[in-house]
Amino acid sequence: MYLIHSPADRTPSEREQDTESWQAMVDEYPTPDNPVDNWFENVASSWQAMTELYHEGKIKALGVSNFYPAHFERVFKNVSVQPMVNQIRLNPSQVLPETVKYDDAHQIITEAYSPFGQGRSFKVPLYQELAAKYHKTVSQILLRWSLDHQYLPLPKAGHEAHMRENLNVFDFDLTPEDISRLDSLNTKK
Ligand SMILES: NC(=O)c1ccc[n+]([C@@H]2O[C@H](COP(=O)([O-])OP(=O)(O)OC[C@H]3O[C@@H](n4cnc5c(N)ncnc54)[C@H](OP(=O)(O)O)[C@@H]3O)[C@@H](O)[C@H]2O)c1
Repeated sequence: MYLIHSPADRTPSEREQDTESWQAMVDEYPTPDNPVDNWFENVASSWQAMTELYHEGKIKALGVSNFYPAHFERVFKNVSVQPMVNQIRLNPSQVLPETVKYDDAHQIITEAYSPFGQGRSFKVPLYQELAAKYHKTVSQILLRWSLDHQYLPLPKAGHEAHMRENLNVFDFDLTPEDISRLDSLNTKK
């Protein structure tokens, strides 16, 4: 799959100093009212080139990352191939409900990157409580939550034991009540 990545981010040092970097990144994004550096035109021409390769059979799937409804509305109104995947940061405490809703309404797979909050999730008490309840690990609870929402989780694991653990999530289900408890962690509704 080829995807167009987000256009803007902070430098590593700026991000380190800013605990709200995720929200700041969202706020600083190009929007139709703030079209940073011809971003929309550049994305449209890149998408056109990718579309040609797709029609030639050289790319199997096209996607985007960190796109929000305003970006889709502006860039993909009159294109022959719509994005098939939108890769966004997504775990129980970091959800972009409007973007997920938009993806769903347009048959775009929401790919959930950083499902473990880049490793910060392992100490969250509710995750630990549910891991004990289901005799699973925190990573498995989080991946199950993602799958139960029909997201496509994209975890990163460098250790083989972690990779194996992360694959072992298809033998249990979370109850609707526990899914709701996890959903209630999202403060950005
Ligand atoms: N499109 C974008 O803008 C964007 C932005 C950020 C990340 N991503 C992608 O998203 C993917 C996710 O990466 P991420 O680093 O952001 O976050 P993540 O998957 O939420 O967290 C990765 C951390 O979790 C640890 N971990 C994984 N499985 C574990 C397990 N079973 N038990 C304990 N610890 C475990 C990893 O340790 P070990 O490595 O030691 O196993 C690593 O420290 C990557 O492929 C990345 O490229 C995309």
